Amino acid sequence: MSDLHADVKDILLTEDQIRDIIERLGKQITEDYKDKNLLLVSVLKGSVVFMADLMRAINLPCRIDFMSVSSYGSGTKTSGVVKIEKDLDLELEGYDLLIVEDILDSGLTLSYILELLSARNPKSIKICAFLDKPERRIAKDISADYIGAVVPDEFVVGYGLDYDEKYRNLPYLGVLKSEVYGG
Ligand code: IMP
Ligand code: MG
Repeated sequence: MSDLHADVKDILLTEDQIRDIIERLGKQITEDYKDKNLLLVSVLKGSVVFMADLMRAINLPCRIDFMSVSSYGSGTKTSGVVKIEKDLDLELEGYDLLIVEDILDSGLTLSYILELLSARNPKSIKICAFLDKPERRIAKDISADYIGAVVPDEFVVGYGLDYDEKYRNLPYLGVLKSEVYGG
């Protein structure tokens, strides 16, 4: 099957709904960071689409940077210990950091990133997650300061989020047909 969209069972957020979410978050962040020194930090790869839209909805001078992490641990279990695959280019002192993530799930990855980046003495540090899946939280002390939408405990793809590294280029957020996971 060569049609990307044919693998999708349900659409959870349409392109129009996503546009509204981005506009709301952009306005809020613009308001909150007007007297600050904003640095947007995108965690690769899931947040690239969200980052690209969000940064253009923020009406402030700001900087951007990227980091990539992978989680250590056996098999499919997330241990919460992450390895930095690509570190940030900028030093963080003096910046008001906003970490841009695709989804806050167990919270283990973000919990580790937060600890790591806090130790580099930014002026402030907050989290902006496109999606929040609160039912799955393991790191109970982690929450996002800005949330695009809350989603139920279902595996979602599109708008940057992948299944087996695919479906990131779907322009909406969807759930795949069960046969897609079969192999
Ligand atoms: P966690 O919060 O440490 O469990 O890890 C979150 C990461 O797992 C996210 O950045 C996503 O890359 C991935 N992830 C979690 N839930 C989903 C989902 O429903 N679809 C696609 N990726 C997901
Ligand atoms: Mg990710």
